[in-house]
Amino acid sequence: MKPIRLTQVLLLAFIMMDCGGKTNVNVYDNFDFNTLSPDLLATGEKVYANSCFPCHTYGTAGAASLFDFKEWDKVAEKGMDVILKSVMEGYQGANGVMPPKGNCWTCTDEEIRTSILYIFHEVKNNRLQSN
Ligand code: HEC
Repeated sequence: MKPIRLTQVLLLAFIMMDCGGKTNVNVYDNFDFNTLSPDLLATGEKVYANSCFPCHTYGTAGAASLFDFKEWDKVAEKGMDVILKSVMEGYQGANGVMPPKGNCWTCTDEEIRTSILYIFHEVKNNRLQSN
């Protein structure tokens, strides 16, 4: 039997950590982001249109607009867990304050999560179109 190499053990440990979803994976590399179904996207869009739109479309009240690519790159690096917490609890950034749940009082965790993924989806599309 061949001895197991250290690199193989490390690789396996890395893969297992990633599957646990506990690492702060950049949103653009996140499994959920890359497997977003049309249904989820539609739910995210609905929440966005009802609640997030007033601030994030044109960058009102200090919010990043969907064309502020650099701002969203910084946010993406935090990973979904941290970002979801920011929106659920409300967030004080350098440029302004976001109310808890982005003002969607009746939204569930899952709906908020979907609206965040929708934002990143739109930002990614806007960036592709502006290149
Ligand atoms: C009243 C205006 C307002 C509304 C409504 C709003 N936001 Fe925000 N949002 C902000 C501001 C202001 C910031 C912080 C900007 C900064 O960095 O200073 C922010 C930041 C964020 C961030 C980055 C958080 C972080 O950890 O960096 C995300 C993600 C986000 N908003 C998503 C949403 C979603 C999803 C909705 C709708 C459910 C929403 N926002 C509704 C104003 C708003």
